Amino acid sequence: MKVSWSHCVLKVRDIEAMVQFYCDTMGWVVSDRGPMGPPGAPDIVFLTGSSSDHHQMALVATRGDEEATSLDHNAFRVESLSDVLAMHGKLTADPRVEGILPLTHGNAISVYFKDPEGNGIEMFCDTPWHVKQPAGLVWDPSLSEEELLAWVEDQYRDDSEFRPMDEYRADRAKAFGEN
Ligand SMILES: [Fe+2]
Repeated sequence: MKVSWSHCVLKVRDIEAMVQFYCDTMGWVVSDRGPMGPPGAPDIVFLTGSSSDHHQMALVATRGDEEATSLDHNAFRVESLSDVLAMHGKLTADPRVEGILPLTHGNAISVYFKDPEGNGIEMFCDTPWHVKQPAGLVWDPSLSEEELLAWVEDQYRDDSEFRPMDEYRADRAKAFGEN
């Protein structure tokens, strides 16, 4: 299974100042933003400078004054849904792993979990679709690959930005001046 680092999510105190800092410094743009849950929930802001990833970093306004670490999670991309399902099975059998959460963002099918020291990790594969973020639904690990993909499509087909990922990436590549 090939595992590639994809993005990190940081918990921050002053989200507007931090967004501005990373946009100024990295030349990134905001690809999406919104509350992580019902209206009034803390905002998550997605940042990217590349068409290959909807976000290369995301910032969430959830860091308390006393909180020592700003890391919410590091995310790693695998190449297929069967890799995600295999990883879910492997993690479930590993007594060192806690907090396993199978979650789909519509544009990705993920497993979230904690390493033995409590650091957040996301392992995911892309889906064929772009979906407005943030979005998240718990998926059922007992489904087959085909059933799971069809279920995800059903859940997000009516999303306001639902469209083929290739189309979304081509538009982003144009916007970033990539060839
Ligand atoms: Fe993530």
